[in-house]
Amino acid sequence: MSETHVVVLAAGKGTRMMSAEPKVLHHALGLPLIEHVLRAADSLRPSSLVLVVGHLAERVEASLRKRPGLRFALQDPQLGTGHALLQAEPHLRGASGTLVLLSGDVPLLRAATLRALVAAHQSRQAAATVLTARVERPQGYGRVVRDAQDGRISYIVEDKDAAPHERAIDEINSGIYAFALEPLFPALRSIGAANAQGEYYLPDLVRIFRERGLVVETVSLDDAREILGVNSRRELADVTAILRNARVEALMADGVSIVDPASTWIGPDVLVGADTIVHPNVHLEGRTRIGSNCVINAGVRIVDSTIDDGAIVHNFCVITESHIASGARIGPFAHIRPLSDVGENAHVGNFTELKKTTLGKRSKANHLSYLGDATIGEDVNVGAGTITCNYDGTAKHPTVIEDGVFVGSDTQLVAPVRIGKGAYVAAGSSIVEDVPAGALGIARGKQVNKPGWVEKRKKKR
Ligand code: UD1
Ligand code: CA
Repeated sequence: MSETHVVVLAAGKGTRMMSAEPKVLHHALGLPLIEHVLRAADSLRPSSLVLVVGHLAERVEASLRKRPGLRFALQDPQLGTGHALLQAEPHLRGASGTLVLLSGDVPLLRAATLRALVAAHQSRQAAATVLTARVERPQGYGRVVRDAQDGRISYIVEDKDAAPHERAIDEINSGIYAFALEPLFPALRSIGAANAQGEYYLPDLVRIFRERGLVVETVSLDDAREILGVNSRRELADVTAILRNARVEALMADGVSIVDPASTWIGPDVLVGADTIVHPNVHLEGRTRIGSNCVINAGVRIVDSTIDDGAIVHNFCVITESHIASGARIGPFAHIRPLSDVGENAHVGNFTELKKTTLGKRSKANHLSYLGDATIGEDVNVGAGTITCNYDGTAKHPTVIEDGVFVGSDTQLVAPVRIGKGAYVAAGSSIVEDVPAGALGIARGKQVNKPGWVEKRKKKR
């Protein structure tokens, strides 16, 4: 089998986005547009992968520097898509086989479609194969003009250059192509810029190849949505909605109950187990993994976290970079901040915040608490309004609460501090010293009752 190389174009200005950000770094369902495209490219296991950058090139490069195997070509100034591909030539010297060209702003393309494009291109031994589709509203796209006699592609005309009869054509150029490498770069150099935009149009290659008697083929898509390009915020929202819908459909097919698919946001890398119920307005993001038989109630946002089987997250919780074990119950209105770990069957109740805190099995922090930098054992009861004072204005300090401790309500634990196994802390205490195992720690002003004080005060007046 011959080699496959991929070039992705992402140097254009993206003027219609009206944005200070590079277009390809705008997110669709939690991933930058360019990441969607690069994943499609990866699916071909290409021998080389080159991204052409130009407008805000440093920002695009910086965001992708960690991606293995990705090489960058700079296009400056940006003189059109034909000129853009030419900039990748130094990376492809000596390469042979097929070059697949993708657009950084066409994020819905499926791996299967790319494979079909390459297979058709290679089996027909074409110089170029264009991925096309028929659409209801072809405005803005290049139109595929076919020979009246044999129906083969003759040329592609851009919307801005099209005559009325060409504009009426509903078959569009996706901007995605397979090329034979051998004739490609010489032909690219012969493209001119005598057109409405004064740019070197890559689709002009079709006409050039045809004039040279080379084979140009097309592969037509059944579902044109796959090649939607993102040129505006409107299109970004459209593409995002399609990705969102596809993700929830796939999860439902795998046995996840999604009560209101239209309001549920589940990222491409999120996994959810069967028989979990996801209520409306839930956002599951990043590398989140949710087990089976969980209930994720309305208004919850979970980012880069793991929720084990059978856990229940009540309404309006935010959970980030944390682990919630089986059978645990969270919320409503809980905030679980990074590096927290809630143990099996533990409870975190309303208006409780955890940060970098471990809560052991069956332990409870049910009401109005802040627990930061704390290691809390098993079967601990953290009373309402307990606060770990973990920050002294300069540094963070740890709190350790051992197994079986009972912390009374409205307690401050001034860290660093340790509450020994099975100890009690009296309600309303400000604990500044360790409490030994089995002891009662009490640290509050002694109560004084003054009999008849109210009557005496009245008389004084
Ligand atoms: C392009 C095609 C059009 C096709 C459409 C499909 C051309 C001339 N037109 O139009 O036939 O129907 O895509 O979506 O190719 N880019 C560069 N350098 C440049 C110009 C563009 O890298 O100098 C990149 C852009 O960043 C983008 C891609 O090429 O990723 C397409 O450019 P864009 O300006 O969006 O072309 P369209 O007008 O959409
Ligand atoms: Ca485009």
